[in-house]
Amino acid sequence: MTILVTGGAGFIGSNFVLDWLAQSAEPVINLDALTYAGNRQNLVALDDDARHIFVHGDIGDFDRVAKLLAEHQPRAVLNFAAESHVDRSIHGPEDFIQTNIVGTFRLLEAVRAYHGQLPAAAKNAFRFLHVSTDEVYGSLGQADPAFRETHRYEPNSPYSASKAASDHLVRAYHHTYGLPVLTTNCSNNYGPYHFPEKLIPLVIHNALAGKPLPIYGDGQQIRDWLYVKDHCSAIRRVLEAGRLGETYNVGGWNEKANLEVVHTLCAILDELSPRADGQSYATQITFVTDRPGHDRRYAIDASKLERELGWKPAETFETGIRKTVQWYLDHQDWVANVTSGAYKQWVGQQYGAAA
Ligand code: NAD
Ligand code: TYD
Repeated sequence: MTILVTGGAGFIGSNFVLDWLAQSAEPVINLDALTYAGNRQNLVALDDDARHIFVHGDIGDFDRVAKLLAEHQPRAVLNFAAESHVDRSIHGPEDFIQTNIVGTFRLLEAVRAYHGQLPAAAKNAFRFLHVSTDEVYGSLGQADPAFRETHRYEPNSPYSASKAASDHLVRAYHHTYGLPVLTTNCSNNYGPYHFPEKLIPLVIHNALAGKPLPIYGDGQQIRDWLYVKDHCSAIRRVLEAGRLGETYNVGGWNEKANLEVVHTLCAILDELSPRADGQSYATQITFVTDRPGHDRRYAIDASKLERELGWKPAETFETGIRKTVQWYLDHQDWVANVTSGAYKQWVGQQYGAAA
């Protein structure tokens, strides 16, 4: 048996592939377009592992995907591939429409054709798992209950709107064509291999580089954080036992204001890698212009996943964030490698003089 993973060279996808092959003998076909966010270096530990077959290609390339499916006959397709950074979607939404909407559509078309010709047993066993986000639900007020799967879709950024569209397509392929789909909507992830354009790795990187730690607006926006390996275990569990056509919210009941997260990071860095001048990294905190249309609060109610499938996260925020800081301290070569070229250009565009 084999699974096909898309976007497996990105942050969550590479953690998923590494964890999968650490726990299972089942091979992984990894289809990734290697955009700025895709990094073969994340998978270097698998270079000599015959169970990992890396394929450089686009989920929107129907012929390529159809050929891969015919050749490897996977029992499941897991779709991680996406444009994923909200700020980039504000500066340039086009790539988000192309990959997240058109790409997912073409992938679904190729999978539908493949699924349709499978023998009955393989057809029944097949799964298409779509990895999505809590951002499709929009923004919560302070007193609102956390997002449940029944919360209406109210995406506010080009990123979340494009993910919402992809979720709807996946749902429609189940209802219209009987494709056996599962969707997961997860909260903000953090952990190893997180590209340093997102808040947590950006702050660790900038702190160590002696640069400003940019806080958008008042820093009181709330995100619900989950250690990436807990997201991966949830996906494995949903793939294994999720009910067809269902969506599952994934989260760790862990809401934090951005400013609190940044202060926590500074305190851990002060302890593990103190500044030469003895001052706290917190002195580098700088308030910058807010993100347009910035969602105020996300919170995930993961009780369906916990109740139906018995999933629980292994890490608390305290254990996960400490592991994450230590990982970045131990992998500064990885950070140096990705913080070059196109990435530097982006930082200049986004933060201007504050970079
Ligand atoms: P990422 O940006 O780190 O990685 C995306 C990967 O997809 C990269 O390897 C990239 O090369 C690849 N890719 C992009 N366009 C492609 C295309 N057209 N064809 C093939 N590959 C392509 O993203 P991530 O943070 O790992 O997120 C993975 C998935 O999880 C996304 O669907 C995202 O919406 C979802 N998600 C992310 C978070 C989070 O906090 N990062 C939370 C919930 C859900
Ligand atoms: P981010 O990591 O981009 O994830 P998302 O927008 O998908 O939640 O941002 C997390 C939060 O941190 C979000 O509220 C925006 C904020 N943020 C900053 O305050 N400064 C930054 O430099 C970045 C990248 C994000």
